[in-house]
Amino acid sequence: MNPAAEIGVIGGSGLYALLDGAVEHEVSTPYGAPSDPITVAQVGDRRVAFLPRHGRDHRYPPHKIPYQANLWALRALGVRQVVAPCAVGGLRPELGPGTFVVPDQLIDRTSGRAQTYYDTGAIHVNFADPYCPDGRRAVLAAAGPVDPVDGGTMVVVEGPRFSTRAESRWFTSIGGTIVNMTGHPEAVLARELGLCYTSIALVTDLDAGVEGDHGVTMEEVFRVFADNTERLRGVLLDAVTRLPAERTCPCATALDGLKLPIELP
Ligand code: ADE
Repeated sequence: MNPAAEIGVIGGSGLYALLDGAVEHEVSTPYGAPSDPITVAQVGDRRVAFLPRHGRDHRYPPHKIPYQANLWALRALGVRQVVAPCAVGGLRPELGPGTFVVPDQLIDRTSGRAQTYYDTGAIHVNFADPYCPDGRRAVLAAAGPVDPVDGGTMVVVEGPRFSTRAESRWFTSIGGTIVNMTGHPEAVLARELGLCYTSIALVTDLDAGVEGDHGVTMEEVFRVFADNTERLRGVLLDAVTRLPAERTCPCATALDGLKLPIELP
């Protein structure tokens, strides 16, 4: 049977729909329901699934998102390549609101989130490079007209509060370039399912350690994201057509040789 979809897009704050003429799939998983029903449509010659990370009514804050169910449900539909847009704060003054960043590294500062499918056995996936190199190339090419920043380290905080100025300055000092609340465990769960995962980050604000005024506000984050949603949508719909149909990246073989204690969908 042909898979329902090959590529998954997980929409961030303010991106609650992506595809025209889509068919809705209710998917259940051993980890509960995903954030929302998944919509699937044809984009060029690829089948694309879309899942709004927070739910279409934004009912899940970052620390309550059912990350395990989301990635599992996408894989169950046949998805093997995931593109994940998100809103981020800039940790460097040159990364102002409206900048697109395609990160190549991640620092996990979350706590207490379920971040593995493998609670038994000895399964330790390689996560040295958390993002798919081929996915990054495709997204960078698609984002060419919006002049994306190639590379950067995303610090993922637990939230839901924004960071203090001291935390924010520290993130910059340890090599962080952008900060958000949802980039992890999404990335590692994708790796644990052998999926390609590529992040495209839209800077909505300068984080508290960089801006000298009032600190970050939710109003600012949502307003800047909304102002850039159409640009982001264009990049995403172009990016999915540029992803290679045959996977030759390391993500495709990330699980080779591992004795998985569970059967993947
Ligand atoms: N998402 C958008 N802006 C952010 C910030 N400054 N910190 C954490 N998450 C964010």
